[in-house]
Amino acid sequence: MNEGFETLAIHAGQEADPHTGAVVPPIYAVSTYKQDGVGGLRSGYEYSRSANPTRTALEECLAAVEGGARGLAFASGLAAEDTLLRTVCAPGDHVLIPDDAYGGTFRLFAKVLERWGVSYDPVPLGDVDAVRAAVRPETKVIWVETPTNPLLGIADIAALASVAHDAGALLVVDNTFASPYLQQPVALGADVVVHSTTKYVGGHSDVVGGALVAASAELGERLAYHQNAMGAVAGPFDAWLTLRGLKTLAVRMDRHCDNAERVVELLASHPKVTQVLYPGLPEHPGHEVAAKQMRRFGGMVSFRVAGGEEAAVEVCNRAKLFTLGESLGGVESLIEHPGRMTHASAAGSPLEVPADLVRLSVGIETVGDLLADLSQALG
Ligand SMILES: Cc1ncc(COP(=O)(O)O)c(C=O)c1O
Repeated sequence: MNEGFETLAIHAGQEADPHTGAVVPPIYAVSTYKQDGVGGLRSGYEYSRSANPTRTALEECLAAVEGGARGLAFASGLAAEDTLLRTVCAPGDHVLIPDDAYGGTFRLFAKVLERWGVSYDPVPLGDVDAVRAAVRPETKVIWVETPTNPLLGIADIAALASVAHDAGALLVVDNTFASPYLQQPVALGADVVVHSTTKYVGGHSDVVGGALVAASAELGERLAYHQNAMGAVAGPFDAWLTLRGLKTLAVRMDRHCDNAERVVELLASHPKVTQVLYPGLPEHPGHEVAAKQMRRFGGMVSFRVAGGEEAAVEVCNRAKLFTLGESLGGVESLIEHPGRMTHASAAGSPLEVPADLVRLSVGIETVGDLLADLSQALG
């Protein structure tokens, strides 16, 4: 049966509980499971690091909504990334990363994986020829973020998948900003999709989590082995909250997009704003590609403020309804200064972000209230 996105998000992996009929998977707060004789597992569960029924429900649902063969849930997005990279890379391998990757992803490469012997090069993912030219014989992964955090750059997933596959490398797509509702990388050729489920998938700023979705069962099996061997799994309560968020992803995303479009309109005509970065704008260099591979353009908006760093910081400090804080993708609107907050770890690197940049995670509050707050914050 070819079910729609919303149906999968609400039902995939979530049969009514066989014992009680509970329509929502219970929180299996349990570490171990009684065996019927040595090795006689009742329903495949033996120890909750290896598998837990609440986590299984989330993992099956994630695989379904991303159109992949296997989903795996982790304690955080970075735990998912680390597990993936230590599964598919070995010391001596090389990875291409976006030249404006999320600061924490960059730090993982620069401070952790490089010491382990995996080298990396930042590349402008919007330029497919530049990516092809940067591939080396030892390149194992092309790491894609699209839209990127925080500059909202767009990469052509299908084109980069063929660059990766021609080179015998894997294409990994961090789909955190778009969410599976707006963009489905597996259908475009990605081998693995990464999520910080902390963001749109969870959607309520109440849980930290991560996910991997493998396109093939074979790679999914290798990742599952490492998930258990490395142990950075999502706990049952976190898995339950994340699954609860995932059920309403589609309706939330549509409202995030509606509100973001109105915010972009306001910013684009504001005298204190020198540039608006949003892939929905026709003048955005990635607009055509985004229109091809995304359902809509998302809830993240960045902009540059006339007057430089101090002026940008002032806008962040003056906002009231837009809460000053890191993270994104929750129902409440957030504002932040990437240079001093989320992307401070990229300072002095090729991934340093402009000092006059402000990033918004546009929430689903009444849009008039959001516009009024931004107008007063801009002064
Ligand atoms: C695009 C992106 N990928 C990955 C991560 C890391 O996820 P987590 O914070 O859940 O470890 C983040 C966090 O902000 C992110 O924005």
